[in-house]
Amino acid sequence: MSIQEEKIKLLVDRRAGARLGGGEKRIDAQHAKGKLTARERLARLLDEGSFEEFDMFVQHRCTNFGMDASHIDGDGVVTGQGTIDGRLVFVFAQDFTVNGGSLSKTMSEKICKVMDMAVKTGAPVIGLNDSGGARIQEGIDALAGYGDIFERNILASGVVPQISLIMGPCAGGAVYSPALTDFTLMVKDTSYMFLTGPAVVKSVTGETVTQEELGGAGVHSSKSGVAHFSADSEDDAIAQIKKLLSFLPQNNMETAPFRATNDPVSRADDFLNSVVPDNPNKAYDMYGVIKSIVDDGDFFEVHRNFAKNIIVGFAHMGGRSVGVVANQPGVLAGVLDINASRKAARFVRFCDAFNIPLLTLVDVPGFLCGTQQEYGAIITNGAKLLYAYGEATVPKVTVTLRKSYGGAHIVMSCKQLRGDINYAWPSAEIAVMGAKGAVGVLKDVTEEEYNELFCNPYQAARMGYIEDVIEPRNTRFRAIRAFEVLAGKRQELPAKKHDNMPL
Ligand code: HXC
Repeated sequence: MSIQEEKIKLLVDRRAGARLGGGEKRIDAQHAKGKLTARERLARLLDEGSFEEFDMFVQHRCTNFGMDASHIDGDGVVTGQGTIDGRLVFVFAQDFTVNGGSLSKTMSEKICKVMDMAVKTGAPVIGLNDSGGARIQEGIDALAGYGDIFERNILASGVVPQISLIMGPCAGGAVYSPALTDFTLMVKDTSYMFLTGPAVVKSVTGETVTQEELGGAGVHSSKSGVAHFSADSEDDAIAQIKKLLSFLPQNNMETAPFRATNDPVSRADDFLNSVVPDNPNKAYDMYGVIKSIVDDGDFFEVHRNFAKNIIVGFAHMGGRSVGVVANQPGVLAGVLDINASRKAARFVRFCDAFNIPLLTLVDVPGFLCGTQQEYGAIITNGAKLLYAYGEATVPKVTVTLRKSYGGAHIVMSCKQLRGDINYAWPSAEIAVMGAKGAVGVLKDVTEEEYNELFCNPYQAARMGYIEDVIEPRNTRFRAIRAFEVLAGKRQELPAKKHDNMPL
């Protein structure tokens, strides 16, 4: 073997070693837990042959507790670039087989490098999290590494989409990187997120709780809202992320890819003419309306199991990616409460940051009242949604289907919050409040009188607060045409350092 051949063999051998991470035994242990390794995950996420790895030979620099005796090429994270459906993404995947994926300072440098590349080139960053947290042997150096990552999460926010998959433990301060990103997905049964685990909870508060109850995918996708998606398996998780990306642009300077469709723009649907029940107290299912309006009935929901009284998610309309926000009369009558407001506000802000137009479907009886909501700051939280809509400069098309009362009417992308095109169905009731409440206050007015005067779309139409009253069956066509008209919309906010939205 020539000297050059030997050098090449050394490279090939070192690469093979790095690809084994923590070794066969630990890979088997990972598989036994029902989890894939970092590299297996990336192979499934990225287009075949597209992955180019960075920093495969980076090693940790810790000398404490005998750490200088053990080095694994690449340390506990696999980083690099690749494509998904032909579009560039930057990725990092924590490797649990190397010191439990715990974060060393050098690992954080690898992660920061791909985040910097993503911002420089304008491409999404996807992080696959599976880690025991800060590498304990490194002490404050590991914490500094987290700080470096958090700062990059913040600087990249609103510049490139950031997506976090939680595929194992994610505990302590480590949870804050996913929390700073745009979307978090958790895999059921194998992932959890919490500030402190069950043992510490027990010793501090006396509460007995399992990992799953404290921070499993079920809890965070339904109760806390920390996770936007939950997946049944790692393959399901990866499929969901690929689908999500198909609605998003690469960065804040671009628009999302156009998706051609055979679904006719002018497709009318008679079902919509009869979907609203005659009885105003009767519910109907908003999903049916959304699916009828969007291209091919294909709606990709975000936060499906959290604050179900409002629906948010992505769809295409006439080939364009749009964000849909819709009250759900089928859950709590579609009332706006703290969680619904938080959920929708974050979604509206994401869409606005990434040039995704907003379609708002309104059927809202108002804000939820009572001490629980007031003590939980429904005022501040409701203001988040108000703020998000009012500041959004993307095209905003609003359709009021039925109730649109009071403060909730104003919040839901009304004209005065710079709604661009606002339509209403003939069944719309755009008013200060419902008839029952109104006659309770105005003693000399009957419900019939109030209904006749206010519980219709024509008061608002008369004032120009809506552009038109439309036949429900034509909603798809009218909304798509509105988005086409608005495609070139340009609107600026006053110059400022940044806003001070009610957090
Ligand atoms: C160094 C770690 C580690 C860590 C795990 N390992 N966590 N090494 N630092 N934080 C190592 C283990 O020693 C073990 O090494 C290997 O990874 C696999 O771990 P196991 O415990 O065998 O795996 P498992 O039973 O699956 O348990 C996983 C675990 C547990 C629940 C994550 O390892 C654990 O509780 N780790 C500590 C978690 C923690 O307290 N982290 C610090 C949080 S504070 P060997 O060689 O035996 O295979 C924090 C602050 C961040 O993160 C602040 C940011 C601002």
